Amino acid sequence: MTVALDVRKAAEGDLAAVVEIENSSFDQPWRRETFVALLGRPSVDILVAEIGREVAGYVVLRSTVGESELANLAVSPAHRGTGVARALLAQAVETASERGATWIFLAVRASNRKAARLYERFGFREIGTHGAYYQEPPEDARVFALEFPAASRP
Ligand SMILES: CC(C)(COP(=O)(O)OP(=O)(O)OC[C@H]1O[C@@H](n2cnc3c(N)ncnc32)[C@H](O)[C@@H]1OP(=O)(O)O)[C@@H](O)C(=O)NCCC(=O)NCCS
Repeated sequence: MTVALDVRKAAEGDLAAVVEIENSSFDQPWRRETFVALLGRPSVDILVAEIGREVAGYVVLRSTVGESELANLAVSPAHRGTGVARALLAQAVETASERGATWIFLAVRASNRKAARLYERFGFREIGTHGAYYQEPPEDARVFALEFPAASRP
């Protein structure tokens, strides 16, 4: 049996699962309070991917006039490599477009080749680096951007 993958807006009830995935994904995880605060912000979209009734991953998108930042993305270790991140990215791009963005940017640790490959395969292009952007461990960020084709702009 194939269990459907559904991407939808997050609710407060999803945050326990989101925080658990966050803690198992990053050395310096965001705290629950950060997610709670972002859920209440009109300029922020938190989307969760659900497999059956289980939250398998999430993405956080922050939008301002004309652009969106993909601020966070993670998939639970048990569900990695099955297309969950791709589904989340696809919905994030659609959401950004609906908000009037013409491009999305994001920063990724220089050593995170898996994530960089995901973004590249999705059409993102590397546009620069931020020196010593991360702490613990200190590391540069690679900055990627995806520009929407003019035809798909609102
Ligand atoms: C990076 C991450 C989000 C990928 O999630 P995922 O659901 O496993 O990714 P998907 O299954 O949708 O795969 C999409 C693409 O990611 C890349 N990818 C996924 N798993 C990979 C692996 N084990 N090795 C190399 N590339 C991989 C591939 O390009 C893949 O495309 P393909 O299947 O056409 O080759 C996940 O590994 C994760 O949560 N990592 C920890 C948190 C993190 O690094 N977040 C990103 C911060 S910028």
